[in-house]
Amino acid sequence: MKIGIIGAGDIGRLYAKLWHKAGHVVFLSARNPDKHRDFVAGLGDGAFLGTPEEAAAFADVVLLAVNYPTVESAVEAIAPHVSDKLVIDATNPLGYDAKGQLEALIPDGDIAGLVMAEKLPNARIGKAFTSLWSGYVETKSNVTDPQVAMPFAVDADADKTTMAQLIGEAGLVPVDIGGLADSAALDPSSPVWNVVLSSDEVKQRVAAFRLNNAA
Ligand SMILES: NC(=O)c1ccc[n+]([C@@H]2O[C@H](COP(=O)([O-])OP(=O)(O)OC[C@H]3O[C@@H](n4cnc5c(N)ncnc54)[C@H](OP(=O)(O)O)[C@@H]3O)[C@@H](O)[C@H]2O)c1
Repeated sequence: MKIGIIGAGDIGRLYAKLWHKAGHVVFLSARNPDKHRDFVAGLGDGAFLGTPEEAAAFADVVLLAVNYPTVESAVEAIAPHVSDKLVIDATNPLGYDAKGQLEALIPDGDIAGLVMAEKLPNARIGKAFTSLWSGYVETKSNVTDPQVAMPFAVDADADKTTMAQLIGEAGLVPVDIGGLADSAALDPSSPVWNVVLSSDEVKQRVAAFRLNNAA
């Protein structure tokens, strides 16, 4: 697969490394690509670096991994290049307020995946990689007993297959939690967010979360 990665920070670099190791061609991008030259050169053949526009145009599948306060410019850059492509949105809609406290950047009750689908209406949005800190994945990827789960949500069956494959190749167990409209469980404040869980634990917590939210 040709994977375009928008954002070359903790998340972009981590999955670039894991997917490159799994045999995919990765194209890492940022607003200032020069900062990432050594990292990409270190990956070797089959790893490229450039702008978000170039990464999105190159890719079969895009991973969006930028900070939410700057997400609009990333979306604007990639929008012309992601028609009918799967864009896996790893962003969390969070920023910091003037006191340095985390704050939500979408209205309470909105679902981040659906918000992204409105921003990129020509793409097929999937949601994953939001719920696990990169440091956990670094240490827990490919660990067995217990294997660490990565929940994901996307609408089309073919995209479910692609996302499950990419999560598996990152050394995690894919757990399909439904379509994009079901992806609230991947957003901050859900009980699966920022915690290392097995697939059974993810399923139990997602079911409880939905029950609570339906009540
Ligand atoms: N870190 C985690 O453990 C974790 C886990 C789950 C989800 N997430 C989510 O993943 C996203 C990225 O987090 P991170 O920790 O990887 O952030 P990070 O380490 O701060 O890296 C962000 C990267 O995005 C690039 N960037 C920022 N705005 C951009 C834009 N408009 N266009 C292109 N590139 C842009 C930055 O480079 P330039 O400044 O050069 O553009 C930088 O390489 C966030 O939404 C975060 O909530 C993070």
